[in-house]
Amino acid sequence: MKRVTVRRSSIHGKGVFALRALNPGERIFEYKGLVTTWKEASRHHERREQEAHTFLFGRSDGRVIDGGRGGNSARWLNHSCAANCEAIEEGDGRVYIEATRDIARGEELFIDYALEVGGETDQATLAEYACRCGGRQCRGTMLGSP
Ligand SMILES: C[S@@+](CC[C@H](N)C(=O)[O-])C[C@H]1O[C@@H](n2cnc3c(N)ncnc32)[C@H](O)[C@@H]1O
Ligand SMILES: [Zn+2]
Repeated sequence: MKRVTVRRSSIHGKGVFALRALNPGERIFEYKGLVTTWKEASRHHERREQEAHTFLFGRSDGRVIDGGRGGNSARWLNHSCAANCEAIEEGDGRVYIEATRDIARGEELFIDYALEVGGETDQATLAEYACRCGGRQCRGTMLGSP
């Protein structure tokens, strides 16, 4: 049975929602997409005038998974400062999304993006990555700790 679906989110655009209850530690899906370099992915998305890093997932080997090319539903996961899912990278570089707590049917699935941006995090950058998760623990940004 399908575990998740993509539909409109109250946080932003589309999001991923549970179609049935999910258990802590349950592996939900792989974050799929083209594995490439940051440079190539940024260039590719710039050319297409899309939001450059929206669907890019950084791997520990310095490469990225570009969910915008060959990706699956995982690319629609929104960020929350109180995420109910996490990304687990296996030794082969594949990334899987797992539940970190009980998730009820109908709940939106979130990961904590903890994004890293090079250079100074000035006001413009902070505004660009402002978080609207609305949680009590919201830190106000999709960026990770400096
Ligand atoms: C991977 S996409 C997620 C899918 C997105 N909702 C959409 O429909 O394209 C990431 C983008 O969603 C938006 N987003 C996700 N979580 C957010 C949040 N908590 N607050 C504000 N914007 C968010 C940001 O624009 C971010 O660049
Ligand atoms: Zn937040």
